[in-house]
Amino acid sequence: MSGLEQRIHDAVHGQTQPTVTVLSSLLAVEDELGYIPKDALEFVAGFSNATVNDVWAVASFYPNFRFEPPAEHAVEVCWGASCHVVGAMGVFKSVLEAAGLEAAGDTPDMRLTVRFNTCLGACSQAPVMSLDHHLAGRVTPESAAKKVASLLEQDGNGG
Ligand code: FES
Repeated sequence: MSGLEQRIHDAVHGQTQPTVTVLSSLLAVEDELGYIPKDALEFVAGFSNATVNDVWAVASFYPNFRFEPPAEHAVEVCWGASCHVVGAMGVFKSVLEAAGLEAAGDTPDMRLTVRFNTCLGACSQAPVMSLDHHLAGRVTPESAAKKVASLLEQDGNGG
């Protein structure tokens, strides 16, 4: 078994909740690896007595699953109502500019993924963003760009 197969196996078999479904298994893999490799679709199908097509139908329905390995760093900009009304659009534009991207997605060098989030759960501190899962509140377009730049200045050892 390769290291990747082992991690998929452990993630799927390590679920402790009472109801294990195709979706819960996919979530467990995504949590462990940060994406769903093709091997995991096959593994979850075998584990759940489902076909790969059934598993794919579930996986492709959820926009938050990725099917390619993640970039080194992840930045999310909240686009929920509370953040939107206090300037999330300006923050988002500024983050894209700092990342050198035209739209949400991965940078070509795979150093950064920029995503929207519909609520980062800290509405009272709007506008909110997250950098490698650490929240930052009351950001401005200027402070957001600085945060992205300093994230990218960190040396590349997995962040
Ligand atoms: S709407 Fe942005 S954190 Fe909730």
